[in-house]
Amino acid sequence: MDALLIHGGNPLAGEVRISGAKNAALPILTASLLSAEPLKLGNVPHLKDISTMLALLGHMGVRVTLDDKNHVTLSGESIPHKEAPYEMVKTMRAAILVLGPTLARFGEARVSLPGGCAIGSRPVDLHIKGLQAMGADINIEHGYIHARCKRLQGARIVMDMVTVTGTENLMMAAALADGTTVLENAAREPEVVDLARCLIAMGAKIEGAGSDVITIHGVDSLHGAEYAVMADRIETGTFLVAAAMTGGRVRATHAQPDTLEAVISKLREAGAQVSVGEDWIEIDSDGKLKAVDVRTAPHPAFPTDMQAQFMAMNAVSEGAASVTETIFENRFMHVQELRRLGANIEVSGHTALVRGVPRLDGAIVMATDLRASACLVLAGLVAAGETTIERIYHLDRGYERIEEKLTQLGARIKRVH
Ligand code: EPZ
Repeated sequence: MDALLIHGGNPLAGEVRISGAKNAALPILTASLLSAEPLKLGNVPHLKDISTMLALLGHMGVRVTLDDKNHVTLSGESIPHKEAPYEMVKTMRAAILVLGPTLARFGEARVSLPGGCAIGSRPVDLHIKGLQAMGADINIEHGYIHARCKRLQGARIVMDMVTVTGTENLMMAAALADGTTVLENAAREPEVVDLARCLIAMGAKIEGAGSDVITIHGVDSLHGAEYAVMADRIETGTFLVAAAMTGGRVRATHAQPDTLEAVISKLREAGAQVSVGEDWIEIDSDGKLKAVDVRTAPHPAFPTDMQAQFMAMNAVSEGAASVTETIFENRFMHVQELRRLGANIEVSGHTALVRGVPRLDGAIVMATDLRASACLVLAGLVAAGETTIERIYHLDRGYERIEEKLTQLGARIKRVH
């Protein structure tokens, strides 16, 4: 099994090109199920989860073609298999996103219920409840969601909790429903906005994406379109924190600064210099940072997908700070691994108190989930000596060529098989 070997201590310097966003590309790929015409996508990142989603769509009947310019074209003219089997859903929860579009276009869908996840139980009850409010008949049998309807009906849906993929699933379903749907307490994440923009390019009638009230006027059919996926704000944030911790100067290009305001302001609070342009963010740091309190919450608040990275940063910063996780009930798996590197962290409930230490020491650690693995990479970049990160397949799910990009910035990092 692959592992990463990192020799810490090198300040990072130079430019890093940000890839397309995993969490925007995944729902946008499933939008191809909504139309019989081709959807041509650019800036789709090369990631394990993207390959899994393309395999699932291919299994359902979508014709997938890749050209030499990294464009992915998806043609959903015929979808003989209106199902997402357990084998595919178990490796990637986002497979639930085929439920809304398949049901809306074909009046039936059979999707394996996602199982538990390292970071939390992550139920999909709000996805199901929303579709039922639109008139779907849904049964859960043998671990599968069986959904049927003549045609989905517009409805007013007040979401009990803010859910990103829940909002995305219902927005796609409502695009082909009969009548108007209003989603209240909707997710405001930039990835939801990116999906809405792609759906509008396909002919959907959507207002209010980016706010907590989204209105969708259903149409009879959607047409093909060309769309470029947004930049990955979590990959961007991860590289900015890497530069801040190692005491470097890095410019992230092909980025979208307006999707990272909460992260940028926390980096400035920690003492890093951050400047932004239209599609770039530059950070300059001497590595002597101040520990900062963070509390995760739905966008535009501080993103949970950056929590682990900031915990690594606080572990080597001046003073102490609290890290509070309000979205997922089990997203502190990286704490024990950071302690193996010499970090001083106390956890009580959903809050971790991190007291900065002068130095981390390299050791063998284990990745437990995607963002936890990014946290361990950051810790390895500043730890004395060698750090080995096992189970690095977690990282490949969400970071495109990370060791190559870090090496270009001056890091000593390599993959071992
Ligand atoms: C999306 O997951 C992202 N994944 C996650 O990124 C991200 O952490 C999360 O949003 C929060 O920002 C993708 O976009 C593919 P939620 P999602 O539904 O949609 C509860 C990464 O690292 N909930 O917004 O699955 C749920 O348990 C990944 O890239 C219900 O109770 O998250 C959680 O506590 C990890 N019932 C909270 O809501 C539901 O039906 C928010 O989850 C749905 C959610």
